[in-house]
Amino acid sequence: MPNVTLRVNGDVVSRDIEARMSLADFLREHANCRSVHLGCEHGVCGACTILIDGRLARSCIALAIALEGADVTTLEGLHADATIAQLRESFHECHGLQCGYCTPGMLVTARDIIQREGETTEKRLREALAGNICRCTGYAGIVASIRHAAEALKQD
Ligand code: FES
Ligand code: FES
Repeated sequence: MPNVTLRVNGDVVSRDIEARMSLADFLREHANCRSVHLGCEHGVCGACTILIDGRLARSCIALAIALEGADVTTLEGLHADATIAQLRESFHECHGLQCGYCTPGMLVTARDIIQREGETTEKRLREALAGNICRCTGYAGIVASIRHAAEALKQD
């Protein structure tokens, strides 16, 4: 089996893997990143959203073997990130989750939106979240949470 070496949340992870293994499976099985959830497994629902070299990506449609040397960050690697800390608080306060299955992908995506756009309109936020599906909340709580976080971070 071919070998691949990635940097995952700052740690070097090197494994012999099947060439067809997705990055999502690699992260869950070989790097213990259980925040990487699998929903659709074809790039639609956003549950598996992570960062590859600092950019948002769907880990279910990325082949681990094609990412030799890449720097991958999951929600576990953002535990000390100030934006994620505020988002966690805001999701709690504004009821941004129910079952929590979509939440890791939502948080990683919301961090990206806040860092790129700061405070934004509800309409724009809903557009930016179009690639992250939540089957429970109806999105009102999620949108309120992200707006709350962006506002709080602006005041810091
Ligand atoms: Fe990756 Fe749905 S599991 S986008
Ligand atoms: Fe259940 Fe979003 S909180 S899928």
